[in-house]
Amino acid sequence: MLTVLNHPLITHKLAYLRDENTGHKDFRENLEEIASLMAYEVLRDLPMKDVHITTPMGPCDTKMLDTEVILVPILRAGLGLVDGIMDLIPTAKVGFMGIYRDEKTLEPVEYFAKFPKELSEGIVLALDPMLATGGSAVAAVTKLKERGAKNIRMVCLVGAPEGVKAFTEAHPDVDLYLAALDDHLNEIGYIVPGLGDAGDRIYGTK
Ligand code: PRP
Ligand code: URA
Repeated sequence: MLTVLNHPLITHKLAYLRDENTGHKDFRENLEEIASLMAYEVLRDLPMKDVHITTPMGPCDTKMLDTEVILVPILRAGLGLVDGIMDLIPTAKVGFMGIYRDEKTLEPVEYFAKFPKELSEGIVLALDPMLATGGSAVAAVTKLKERGAKNIRMVCLVGAPEGVKAFTEAHPDVDLYLAALDDHLNEIGYIVPGLGDAGDRIYGTK
């Protein structure tokens, strides 16, 4: 299922990312803050277990988290979402999925995969700011399933309708979260209006 968060705080911070005048330091900081805000929504149904504790006022029956959370950034740009989510869940494990998009064919090219052993037991958040053609996200989730992940959520910042269609057709069982659904892809496969090349803007490489 597709969820477009459209939250005022997220949309506000996303405007800074979209602005071509925002440099990589401010870009990274806003991206991290957006990741925290998105995680808050994406994880609102996390499984809980009953616990019994004692407060300074006496006994208390309450609940605590009852699942592993595994973050899997799609390199490079997905790394920009990790720290903001780790701030909320410091015990999260992290796996890595190396994929780049061939600039001519727009096809995803895999070059690295390393996942924690809890992959099949926990809730896996696959992370990438951009869902353009959807090729990278589709390939990443296919790999996660091959490696045993059962409960996967795909978290992106900005999506194009083309990417949403490709992803939901390939993985109808995986919930997809976007901060914003943009208008279309241009002739070189970039999201319009989008925010440009996420990896380059995070790392100042262009
Ligand atoms: C970007 C982005 C996604 C992909 C989206 O990565 O971070 O992974 O493109 O495009 P798609 O939906 O058409 O597959 P890029 O290939 O630029 O690699 P990078 O993060 O290493 O810069
Ligand atoms: N990758 C990006 O970083 N940006 C886009 O708009 C499309 C693919």
